[in-house]
Amino acid sequence: MELEKKTTFASNDELIAAINKLREEKDAIILAHYYQVPEIQDLADYVGDSLGLAQKAEQANAKIIVFAGVHFMAETAKILNPDTKVLLPDLEAGCSLADSCPPDEFKKFKEKHPDHIVISYINCTAAIKTMSDIICTSGNAVQIVDSLPEDEKIIFAPDRNLGGYINRISNRNMVLWNGTCEVHDILTTEAIINLKIQHPDAKLIAHPECKGQVLELAEFVGSTTAMLNYTKTDSHKKYIVATESGILHQMQKDSPNKEFIIVPTDDSCSCNDCPYMKLNTLEKLYLCLKNETPEINLDAKIIEDAKAPIIKMLDISKKLNLIK
Ligand code: 13P
Ligand code: SF4
Repeated sequence: MELEKKTTFASNDELIAAINKLREEKDAIILAHYYQVPEIQDLADYVGDSLGLAQKAEQANAKIIVFAGVHFMAETAKILNPDTKVLLPDLEAGCSLADSCPPDEFKKFKEKHPDHIVISYINCTAAIKTMSDIICTSGNAVQIVDSLPEDEKIIFAPDRNLGGYINRISNRNMVLWNGTCEVHDILTTEAIINLKIQHPDAKLIAHPECKGQVLELAEFVGSTTAMLNYTKTDSHKKYIVATESGILHQMQKDSPNKEFIIVPTDDSCSCNDCPYMKLNTLEKLYLCLKNETPEINLDAKIIEDAKAPIIKMLDISKKLNLIK
């Protein structure tokens, strides 16, 4: 089959209509993360955080899943639903957190702590998942750690900020892998204090991938879905938002009468975009559906070994009523 390399649609509406036609013809579903560009979020069958997306991928009953997110998310979808073809519009859509934890180095790190179990944040490669006992997301990390005995020895990887946050609020002493998200880790208390001075009536809400000093200033800390639910139900009218700017689209849609201010990365930028999430475009989404590539393929053994800790996470989350 000759691959289509470029689109020639006269407008975005035509492009969207073509995606919708292909989605129906090919029995495909589109799963999107909240950090995707608004037009992809609006077109998706489901938009969510990593936990919701993992669950949707597991339950998906389609021939194709197009994952509008980053590589580790599409990999997780393939692990949970190996008989379904999983496509990622741009294979370069990686993640600095996942990249910060190379499997060979992590193996040595693990060997230094032989009596520890491993909890890994879902933002890691399939190879790291195979070396983990339980996976977590920002939507269930605290509860998963809290569900373990107080004296359980734990390695937490790869996000030192999320791990440090859990250590503080759950009074644990987990050994942390030294990884970070390049988008959240650069948000500063200075930028936030400046915004707080300009908007004294605004509450600060933050993603737990932010630095500890930022999280200490926050009135609410949670996953993208948790932040979204918080701003929907809270009576406040104005929020300073410490995470990736894509989330503002849903916040504004859900609460049109509220004001949301994103924490800038520096004085020259009023945005805060993840360079990997933002690689996906409508055009690439169309082309990947049309050509059925790039596809995520994983070795059967990796799927088997990486699936067990993800299933453990989903089971604990169900037991704790975090998901249905
Ligand atoms: P959640 O949407 O699960 O909070 O994750 C945020 C993130 O950084 C995904 O890469
Ligand atoms: Fe990775 Fe951070 Fe981008 Fe999420 S926002 S995909 S954690 S680099």
